[in-house]
Amino acid sequence: MAAVTTVATTPIAGQKPGTSGLRKKVAVFAGPHYLENFVQSVFDSIGDTAGQTLVVGGDGRYHNRAAIQTILRMAAAAGFAKAMVGRGGILSTPAASCVIRKYRTFGGLILSASHNPGGPDEDFGIKYNIPAGGPAPEAVTEAIYARTQTLREYRLVEAAAVDLDRLGEQRVGAMVVEVFDPVADYAALMETLIDFDAIRALFADGFRLRYDAMNAVTGPYAVEILERRLGAAPGSVVNAVPLEDFGGMHPDPNLVHAHDLVAALTGPDAPDFGAASDGDGDRNMILGRDFYVTPSDSLAVLAANAHLCPGYAGGLAGLARSMPTSAAADRVAARLGIPCYETPTGWKFFGTLLDAGRATLCGEESFGTGSDHVREKDGLWAVLMWLNILARRRVGVAEIVTAHWRDFGRNVYSRHDYEGIDSAAAEGLMAHLRGLDLTGRELDGRKVALFDDFAYTDPVDGSTSHHQGIRVLFEDGARIVYRLSGTGTQGATLRVYIERYEPDPARHGLDPQVALADLIATARRLAEIEARTGRTEPTVIT
Ligand code: G6P
Ligand code: ZN
Repeated sequence: MAAVTTVATTPIAGQKPGTSGLRKKVAVFAGPHYLENFVQSVFDSIGDTAGQTLVVGGDGRYHNRAAIQTILRMAAAAGFAKAMVGRGGILSTPAASCVIRKYRTFGGLILSASHNPGGPDEDFGIKYNIPAGGPAPEAVTEAIYARTQTLREYRLVEAAAVDLDRLGEQRVGAMVVEVFDPVADYAALMETLIDFDAIRALFADGFRLRYDAMNAVTGPYAVEILERRLGAAPGSVVNAVPLEDFGGMHPDPNLVHAHDLVAALTGPDAPDFGAASDGDGDRNMILGRDFYVTPSDSLAVLAANAHLCPGYAGGLAGLARSMPTSAAADRVAARLGIPCYETPTGWKFFGTLLDAGRATLCGEESFGTGSDHVREKDGLWAVLMWLNILARRRVGVAEIVTAHWRDFGRNVYSRHDYEGIDSAAAEGLMAHLRGLDLTGRELDGRKVALFDDFAYTDPVDGSTSHHQGIRVLFEDGARIVYRLSGTGTQGATLRVYIERYEPDPARHGLDPQVALADLIATARRLAEIEARTGRTEPTVIT
């Protein structure tokens, strides 16, 4: 039995997990006791860890390897019998969810700050996923946070560093560490859901793809699945090697940060299909030639066409979307005669619905799409779903989406982000909005049907969540939603979501910024954005 060292510590303020785990600058995480305090608080809060198996891995960002070595020594001291670690410390978030479930483990620690930049001066993060494979629900994160505030000591065994690049079993104290291929189980799962033969035939017919892994975790997954197994031309996956600083890229797949991909998909020589994922592989952006698919539309299109994919040929039990996501999916659900649940922002809110078999597909406007195959959103899965649908329908991305609009009408949608604004100003703006009383009033010629701060009662476990975003719902179906980001690490980010339903196909081709111009102006005026934040324009528009 290796010696266990008990280290005295004191509570560190601010270790409250946000929308998706604890995220801070690397320097904070690397500071004295910071990671250790949090990990010990997790182990102290999740039940009896003795004899259990823990999954550990991350998106490969700076500090990933060092953090894993510490976690392994602490897991051994906590009595875990086994830790499963992705080779090189690599494990995408959806693959972690897959492995946590497949091997019936006690959950996992995922090291990532998702789509935030990486490197010595950038972000790091950690989150605990429960045995069902999904992010810890609020009750668990609250317990972890409470524990961080009383913690007096943590424990770790004295052991040599694990060779993270050597497949197979090693030991840390009495605990077995199995370094495994992070791609294999995930790829095998995809083969059960997606029509690989149809996609192989598509590529064989000359279909061209560009997948941008943004120097982040999905590179090895995408090369193996898209190029090796499905036959996409070598080099279709770009920025395929995970780098500690993501090569300086900001691995957030949106129109601003994935601009190289957007440029590559423009013009007559562009490939047929473009996609990108974020740092840890759970987000996705879908592009056609000269065509951008909003995440809200992507969810609706996947739902309407899911029967073409083997894993969903038997039909869908229901859909779920986060509140700020457009209602395009609701229209598909209505057509299919299945429910569409509206949840607060954050993938964790889908967990109970997926576990209870009430929802099969889920999606968020924040570039997240997924299904009940794992308990995280899954970027590469969304890409494979699209390829499966394209392979079966044999029309282009733009045709699929515009035909969808003709069929269902278009939920014209845009999100305006004001990043890095002063936190106090942001809180003041939200307080100002909360103080308004708009229900029944007229705003710039539109009648407000409901004005509220979104609250949610989980239909499965009855838990409630309040203050999930301020909604201005107009009688004509248009809406404006305001919320503050829960994932940033500096200042505050105000997100404004603007949506309007357009049934007329003759107007479906309009630029959303034009089609929504009046609502955008109302949104700015109502929240006094310029006066309160000093910003005349958003930082990012998606
Ligand atoms: C993370 C979560 C998503 C959520 C998003 C919201 O990515 O995994 O489920 O939609 O954060 O981010 P925000 O910055 O808007 O709070
Ligand atoms: Zn992510």
